[in-house]
Amino acid sequence: MSDPQSSPHTGYRILEPSASASAEASRRIFMTEVLIGLSKKPKSLSSRFLYDAVGSDAFERICDLEEYYLTRSEFEILRNHADTLVERFGKRPINLVDLGAGDGRKTAVVLEALAARGMDVRYVPIDISEPAMKTVVAAMGERFPALPIEGLVSEYFDGVRWLSEQTERTNLVLFLGSNIGNFDKAHARAFLQQLWSALSPGDHVLVGFDLKKDIELLLAAYNDREGVTAEFNLNLLDRINRELGGNFDRKTFRHFATYNVFSGAMESYLVSQERQRVFIGALRQSFEFSPWEPIHTEYSYKYLDEDITDLAYFAGFEIEALFYDHERWFCDALWKVPGRR
Ligand code: AVJ
Repeated sequence: MSDPQSSPHTGYRILEPSASASAEASRRIFMTEVLIGLSKKPKSLSSRFLYDAVGSDAFERICDLEEYYLTRSEFEILRNHADTLVERFGKRPINLVDLGAGDGRKTAVVLEALAARGMDVRYVPIDISEPAMKTVVAAMGERFPALPIEGLVSEYFDGVRWLSEQTERTNLVLFLGSNIGNFDKAHARAFLQQLWSALSPGDHVLVGFDLKKDIELLLAAYNDREGVTAEFNLNLLDRINRELGGNFDRKTFRHFATYNVFSGAMESYLVSQERQRVFIGALRQSFEFSPWEPIHTEYSYKYLDEDITDLAYFAGFEIEALFYDHERWFCDALWKVPGRR
Protein backbone atom coordinates (compact mmCIF):
# COMPACT_ATOMS: atom_id res chain seq x y z
CA MET A 1 0.00 0.00 0.00
CA SER A 2 1.52 3.27 -1.02
CA ASP A 3 -0.10 5.50 1.61
CA PRO A 4 -1.84 3.83 4.55
CA GLN A 5 -2.54 7.22 6.18
CA SER A 6 -4.74 8.72 3.50
CA SER A 7 -8.48 8.45 3.88
CA PRO A 8 -10.26 7.24 1.84
CA HIS A 9 -7.83 4.54 1.01
CA THR A 10 -5.80 5.20 -2.13
CA GLY A 11 -3.05 2.86 -3.26
CA TYR A 12 -2.22 -0.45 -4.85
CA ARG A 13 -0.97 -3.87 -3.90
CA ILE A 14 1.31 -6.22 -5.75
CA LEU A 15 -0.13 -9.72 -6.09
CA GLU A 16 2.63 -12.37 -5.88
CA PRO A 17 5.00 -10.63 -8.30
CA SER A 18 4.87 -12.95 -11.30
CA ALA A 19 8.05 -13.80 -13.18
CA SER A 20 7.01 -11.61 -16.09
CA ALA A 21 6.76 -8.48 -13.91
CA SER A 22 10.49 -7.84 -13.36
CA ALA A 23 12.36 -5.56 -15.75
CA GLU A 24 15.00 -8.23 -16.41
CA ALA A 25 12.35 -10.88 -17.18
CA SER A 26 10.43 -8.61 -19.52
CA ARG A 27 13.63 -7.77 -21.38
CA ARG A 28 14.32 -11.50 -21.85
CA ILE A 29 10.76 -12.02 -23.13
CA PHE A 30 11.23 -9.12 -25.57
CA MET A 31 14.57 -10.60 -26.76
CA THR A 32 13.07 -14.04 -27.30
CA GLU A 33 10.02 -12.69 -29.12
CA VAL A 34 12.17 -10.50 -31.40
CA LEU A 35 14.42 -13.48 -32.17
CA ILE A 36 11.46 -15.72 -33.00
CA GLY A 37 9.51 -13.03 -34.84
CA LEU A 38 12.35 -11.89 -37.11
CA SER A 39 13.48 -15.46 -37.85
CA LYS A 40 10.04 -16.43 -39.17
CA LYS A 41 8.68 -16.01 -42.64
CA PRO A 42 6.57 -13.96 -42.82
CA LYS A 43 8.28 -11.91 -40.08
CA SER A 44 6.11 -10.66 -37.23
CA LEU A 45 6.33 -8.88 -33.87
CA SER A 46 3.54 -8.81 -31.28
CA SER A 47 1.61 -5.55 -30.95
CA ARG A 48 2.08 -5.63 -27.20
CA PHE A 49 5.66 -4.42 -27.71
CA LEU A 50 4.39 -1.18 -29.28
CA TYR A 51 3.66 0.26 -25.82
CA ASP A 52 6.93 1.40 -24.29
CA ALA A 53 6.96 4.99 -22.95
CA VAL A 54 7.40 6.50 -26.44
CA GLY A 55 4.79 4.20 -27.98
CA SER A 56 2.23 4.86 -25.24
CA ASP A 57 2.73 8.57 -25.79
CA ALA A 58 2.22 8.17 -29.55
CA PHE A 59 -0.92 6.12 -28.92
CA GLU A 60 -2.40 8.92 -26.80
CA ARG A 61 -1.78 11.30 -29.71
CA ILE A 62 -3.51 8.81 -32.05
CA CYS A 63 -6.59 8.99 -29.79
CA ASP A 64 -6.84 12.75 -30.44
CA LEU A 65 -6.64 12.40 -34.24
CA GLU A 66 -9.59 13.36 -36.43
CA GLU A 67 -9.28 10.11 -38.39
CA TYR A 68 -9.09 7.85 -35.32
CA TYR A 69 -12.84 7.85 -34.66
CA LEU A 70 -12.68 4.95 -32.16
CA THR A 71 -11.91 7.07 -29.09
CA ARG A 72 -14.46 9.76 -30.00
CA SER A 73 -17.20 7.20 -30.68
CA GLU A 74 -16.63 5.36 -27.41
CA PHE A 75 -16.61 8.64 -25.46
CA GLU A 76 -19.96 9.48 -27.00
CA ILE A 77 -21.33 6.08 -25.95
CA LEU A 78 -20.16 6.50 -22.38
CA ARG A 79 -21.39 10.10 -22.14
CA ASN A 80 -24.84 9.09 -23.40
CA HIS A 81 -25.27 5.74 -21.68
CA ALA A 82 -23.23 5.73 -18.47
CA ASP A 83 -26.33 6.66 -16.43
CA THR A 84 -28.43 3.82 -17.90
CA LEU A 85 -25.50 1.51 -17.36
CA VAL A 86 -24.98 2.27 -13.67
CA GLU A 87 -28.74 2.32 -12.89
CA ARG A 88 -28.78 -1.44 -13.44
CA PHE A 89 -26.80 -1.95 -10.27
CA GLY A 90 -29.32 -0.30 -7.95
CA LYS A 91 -27.56 0.61 -4.72
CA ARG A 92 -25.28 -2.41 -4.62
CA PRO A 93 -21.66 -1.73 -3.63
CA ILE A 94 -19.52 -1.86 -6.76
CA ASN A 95 -15.91 -2.58 -7.63
CA LEU A 96 -15.20 -0.70 -10.84
CA VAL A 97 -12.43 -2.89 -12.26
CA ASP A 98 -10.35 -1.38 -15.05
CA LEU A 99 -8.30 -3.58 -17.41
CA GLY A 100 -5.96 -1.20 -19.25
CA ALA A 101 -7.03 2.17 -17.85
CA GLY A 102 -4.72 4.20 -20.12
CA ASP A 103 -5.08 7.83 -19.12
CA GLY A 104 -8.37 7.04 -17.30
CA ARG A 105 -10.46 9.58 -19.23
CA LYS A 106 -13.10 7.03 -20.27
CA THR A 107 -13.22 5.44 -16.84
CA ALA A 108 -13.81 8.89 -15.38
CA VAL A 109 -17.10 9.17 -17.29
CA VAL A 110 -18.36 5.96 -15.64
CA LEU A 111 -17.08 7.08 -12.23
CA GLU A 112 -18.92 10.41 -12.58
CA ALA A 113 -22.16 8.53 -13.27
CA LEU A 114 -21.65 6.27 -10.25
CA ALA A 115 -20.82 9.25 -8.03
CA ALA A 116 -23.87 11.19 -9.26
CA ARG A 117 -26.11 8.38 -7.97
CA GLY A 118 -24.25 8.38 -4.66
CA MET A 119 -23.23 4.76 -5.18
CA ASP A 120 -20.74 2.95 -2.98
CA VAL A 121 -17.90 2.39 -5.41
CA ARG A 122 -14.30 1.30 -5.14
CA TYR A 123 -12.00 1.79 -8.11
CA VAL A 124 -9.73 -1.17 -8.91
CA PRO A 125 -7.34 -0.66 -11.83
CA ILE A 126 -5.41 -3.81 -12.77
CA ASP A 127 -2.10 -3.55 -14.61
CA ILE A 128 1.01 -5.73 -14.85
CA SER A 129 3.23 -2.63 -14.90
CA GLU A 130 3.93 -0.94 -11.56
CA PRO A 131 4.96 2.40 -13.16
CA ALA A 132 1.67 2.44 -15.11
CA MET A 133 -0.18 1.64 -11.87
CA LYS A 134 1.49 4.52 -10.01
CA THR A 135 0.44 6.90 -12.77
CA VAL A 136 -3.20 5.83 -12.87
CA VAL A 137 -3.61 5.73 -9.06
CA ALA A 138 -2.11 9.23 -8.75
CA ALA A 139 -4.17 10.65 -11.63
CA MET A 140 -7.49 9.17 -10.49
CA GLY A 141 -6.77 10.00 -6.84
CA GLU A 142 -6.30 13.63 -7.80
CA ARG A 143 -9.39 13.69 -9.99
CA PHE A 144 -11.66 11.89 -7.46
CA PRO A 145 -10.36 12.79 -3.98
CA ALA A 146 -13.24 11.00 -2.19
CA LEU A 147 -12.89 7.77 -4.18
CA PRO A 148 -11.37 4.67 -2.55
CA ILE A 149 -8.78 3.27 -4.97
CA GLU A 150 -7.18 -0.12 -4.62
CA GLY A 151 -5.08 -1.00 -7.66
CA LEU A 152 -3.75 -4.49 -8.30
CA VAL A 153 -0.38 -4.99 -9.93
CA SER A 154 -0.89 -8.39 -11.51
CA GLU A 155 -1.92 -10.25 -14.64
CA TYR A 156 -5.54 -9.44 -15.55
CA PHE A 157 -7.02 -12.81 -14.58
CA ASP A 158 -4.99 -13.21 -11.38
CA GLY A 159 -6.22 -9.78 -10.30
CA VAL A 160 -9.86 -10.44 -11.18
CA ARG A 161 -9.86 -13.86 -9.49
CA TRP A 162 -8.22 -12.48 -6.34
CA LEU A 163 -10.77 -9.70 -6.20
CA SER A 164 -13.74 -11.95 -6.82
CA GLU A 165 -12.65 -14.22 -3.95
CA GLN A 166 -12.05 -11.22 -1.66
CA THR A 167 -15.23 -9.24 -1.77
CA GLU A 168 -18.99 -9.31 -1.58
CA ARG A 169 -19.11 -6.37 -3.96
CA THR A 170 -20.46 -6.71 -7.47
CA ASN A 171 -17.67 -6.33 -10.01
CA LEU A 172 -18.10 -4.19 -13.10
CA VAL A 173 -15.09 -4.90 -15.32
CA LEU A 174 -14.15 -2.40 -18.05
CA PHE A 175 -12.25 -3.64 -21.10
CA LEU A 176 -12.64 -0.62 -23.34
CA GLY A 177 -11.05 0.98 -26.39
CA SER A 178 -11.31 -2.02 -28.73
CA ASN A 179 -8.32 -3.56 -26.99
CA ILE A 180 -10.03 -6.89 -27.67
CA GLY A 181 -9.43 -6.12 -31.37
CA ASN A 182 -5.76 -7.06 -31.03
CA PHE A 183 -6.79 -10.70 -30.43
CA ASP A 184 -7.80 -13.00 -33.26
CA LYS A 185 -11.17 -14.69 -32.77
CA ALA A 186 -9.75 -17.74 -30.99
CA HIS A 187 -7.75 -15.60 -28.56
CA ALA A 188 -10.70 -13.26 -27.97
CA ARG A 189 -12.81 -16.29 -27.00
CA ALA A 190 -10.11 -17.65 -24.73
CA PHE A 191 -9.56 -14.26 -23.10
CA LEU A 192 -13.27 -13.74 -22.36
CA GLN A 193 -13.75 -17.29 -21.16
CA GLN A 194 -10.89 -16.85 -18.70
CA LEU A 195 -12.36 -13.55 -17.58
CA TRP A 196 -15.75 -15.25 -17.07
CA SER A 197 -14.20 -18.03 -15.01
CA ALA A 198 -12.41 -15.52 -12.78
CA LEU A 199 -15.69 -13.68 -12.01
CA SER A 200 -18.74 -14.54 -9.87
CA PRO A 201 -22.47 -14.76 -10.72
CA GLY A 202 -23.95 -11.27 -11.06
CA ASP A 203 -20.66 -9.65 -12.05
CA HIS A 204 -20.68 -7.56 -15.24
CA VAL A 205 -18.21 -6.69 -17.99
CA LEU A 206 -18.33 -3.77 -20.41
CA VAL A 207 -16.31 -4.58 -23.55
CA GLY A 208 -15.55 -2.07 -26.33
CA PHE A 209 -15.79 -3.39 -29.91
CA ASP A 210 -14.95 -1.50 -33.08
CA LEU A 211 -17.54 -2.38 -35.73
CA LYS A 212 -17.18 -3.25 -39.40
CA LYS A 213 -17.84 -0.18 -41.53
CA ASP A 214 -16.90 1.59 -44.78
CA ILE A 215 -13.37 0.40 -45.54
CA GLU A 216 -12.23 3.95 -46.41
CA LEU A 217 -12.95 5.03 -42.82
CA LEU A 218 -10.93 2.11 -41.47
CA LEU A 219 -8.01 2.80 -43.80
CA ALA A 220 -7.97 6.49 -42.82
CA ALA A 221 -8.02 5.66 -39.10
CA TYR A 222 -4.81 3.62 -39.40
CA ASN A 223 -3.10 5.83 -42.02
CA ASP A 224 -3.53 9.33 -40.60
CA ARG A 225 -2.32 12.35 -42.56
CA GLU A 226 -0.01 13.58 -39.80
CA GLY A 227 1.79 10.24 -39.70
CA VAL A 228 1.26 9.69 -35.98
CA THR A 229 0.26 6.05 -36.55
CA ALA A 230 3.36 5.57 -38.68
CA GLU A 231 5.45 6.99 -35.80
CA PHE A 232 3.70 4.65 -33.36
CA ASN A 233 4.49 1.63 -35.54
CA LEU A 234 8.07 2.65 -36.51
CA ASN A 235 8.88 3.24 -32.83
CA LEU A 236 9.03 -0.54 -32.49
CA LEU A 237 12.23 -0.52 -34.58
CA ASP A 238 13.65 2.32 -32.46
CA ARG A 239 12.73 0.34 -29.36
CA ILE A 240 14.68 -2.68 -30.60
CA ASN A 241 17.61 -0.33 -31.27
CA ARG A 242 17.36 1.22 -27.78
CA GLU A 243 16.74 -1.88 -25.72
CA LEU A 244 18.45 -4.63 -27.70
CA GLY A 245 21.24 -2.73 -29.45
CA GLY A 246 19.78 -3.04 -32.94
CA ASN A 247 20.86 -0.98 -35.94
CA PHE A 248 17.53 -0.58 -37.74
CA ASP A 249 17.52 2.47 -40.01
CA ARG A 250 13.89 3.55 -39.75
CA LYS A 251 14.12 5.62 -42.98
CA THR A 252 14.43 2.38 -44.92
CA PHE A 253 11.14 1.05 -43.52
CA ARG A 254 7.60 2.29 -44.06
CA HIS A 255 4.37 1.92 -42.14
CA PHE A 256 1.68 0.10 -44.10
CA ALA A 257 -1.84 -0.59 -42.84
CA THR A 258 -4.47 -2.43 -44.83
CA TYR A 259 -7.88 -4.02 -44.32
CA ASN A 260 -8.03 -7.78 -44.78
CA VAL A 261 -11.53 -8.49 -46.07
CA PHE A 262 -11.19 -12.20 -45.33
CA SER A 263 -10.22 -11.93 -41.67
CA GLY A 264 -12.12 -8.67 -41.03
CA ALA A 265 -9.10 -7.00 -39.46
CA MET A 266 -6.96 -3.95 -40.04
CA GLU A 267 -3.41 -5.26 -40.32
CA SER A 268 -0.31 -3.14 -39.74
CA TYR A 269 3.12 -3.79 -41.18
CA LEU A 270 6.61 -2.33 -41.28
CA VAL A 271 7.92 -2.84 -44.80
CA SER A 272 11.62 -2.85 -45.69
CA GLN A 273 11.98 -0.73 -48.83
CA GLU A 274 15.33 -2.22 -49.78
CA ARG A 275 17.45 -5.34 -49.45
CA GLN A 276 19.29 -5.08 -46.17
CA ARG A 277 20.77 -6.81 -43.15
CA VAL A 278 19.98 -5.59 -39.63
CA PHE A 279 22.21 -6.50 -36.67
CA ILE A 280 20.79 -6.85 -33.15
CA GLY A 281 23.55 -6.74 -30.54
CA ALA A 282 21.69 -8.47 -27.70
CA LEU A 283 20.95 -11.40 -30.02
CA ARG A 284 24.46 -11.37 -31.57
CA GLN A 285 22.74 -11.98 -34.85
CA SER A 286 21.70 -10.25 -38.03
CA PHE A 287 18.46 -10.57 -39.97
CA GLU A 288 18.09 -10.36 -43.74
CA PHE A 289 15.35 -8.37 -45.41
CA SER A 290 14.42 -8.73 -49.08
CA PRO A 291 13.19 -5.61 -50.87
CA TRP A 292 9.54 -4.94 -49.82
CA GLU A 293 9.61 -7.64 -47.15
CA PRO A 294 7.10 -6.92 -44.34
CA ILE A 295 7.14 -7.37 -40.57
CA HIS A 296 3.57 -7.84 -39.36
CA THR A 297 3.04 -5.77 -36.18
CA GLU A 298 -0.68 -5.57 -35.38
CA TYR A 299 -4.17 -6.91 -35.94
CA SER A 300 -7.19 -4.73 -35.14
CA TYR A 301 -10.23 -6.95 -35.63
CA LYS A 302 -13.57 -5.38 -36.53
CA TYR A 303 -16.88 -6.85 -35.42
CA LEU A 304 -20.50 -7.35 -36.47
CA ASP A 305 -23.31 -7.42 -33.88
CA GLU A 306 -23.65 -11.15 -34.49
CA ASP A 307 -19.94 -11.71 -33.77
CA ILE A 308 -20.38 -9.90 -30.44
CA THR A 309 -23.41 -12.05 -29.56
CA ASP A 310 -21.58 -15.29 -30.47
CA LEU A 311 -18.59 -14.27 -28.42
CA ALA A 312 -20.71 -13.46 -25.34
CA TYR A 313 -22.53 -16.80 -25.36
CA PHE A 314 -19.42 -18.78 -26.18
CA ALA A 315 -17.66 -17.32 -23.15
CA GLY A 316 -20.68 -17.97 -20.90
CA PHE A 317 -22.04 -14.43 -20.51
CA GLU A 318 -25.61 -13.14 -20.81
CA ILE A 319 -26.07 -10.01 -22.93
CA GLU A 320 -27.55 -7.18 -20.86
CA ALA A 321 -27.25 -4.29 -23.30
CA LEU A 322 -25.45 -3.08 -26.42
CA PHE A 323 -24.65 0.63 -26.47
CA TYR A 324 -23.82 2.43 -29.73
CA ASP A 325 -22.67 5.86 -30.87
CA HIS A 326 -24.96 7.73 -33.29
CA GLU A 327 -23.01 6.50 -36.36
CA ARG A 328 -23.05 2.90 -35.11
CA TRP A 329 -19.30 2.79 -35.60
CA PHE A 330 -18.50 1.40 -32.16
CA CYS A 331 -20.24 -0.76 -29.57
CA ASP A 332 -19.83 -1.09 -25.82
CA ALA A 333 -21.35 -4.45 -24.87
CA LEU A 334 -22.59 -5.01 -21.31
CA TRP A 335 -22.55 -8.68 -20.36
CA LYS A 336 -23.38 -10.42 -17.12
CA VAL A 337 -22.17 -13.62 -15.52
CA PRO A 338 -25.46 -15.56 -15.16
CA GLY A 339 -26.73 -16.49 -11.74
CA ARG A 340 -27.85 -14.67 -8.63
CA ARG A 341 -27.55 -10.95 -7.77
C1 AVJ B 1 -5.36 0.23 -28.67
C2 AVJ B 1 -5.40 -1.82 -29.86
C3 AVJ B 1 -7.36 -0.49 -29.75
O1 AVJ B 1 -6.03 -1.39 -32.68
O2 AVJ B 1 -7.07 0.49 -32.91
C4 AVJ B 1 -4.21 2.49 -32.98
C5 AVJ B 1 -4.06 0.47 -31.36
N1 AVJ B 1 -3.02 0.83 -33.61
N2 AVJ B 1 -3.69 2.77 -34.19
C6 AVJ B 1 -6.25 -0.24 -32.33
C7 AVJ B 1 -3.78 1.25 -32.62
C8 AVJ B 1 -2.97 1.78 -34.57
C9 AVJ B 1 -5.54 0.33 -31.10
N3 AVJ B 1 -5.89 -0.43 -29.86
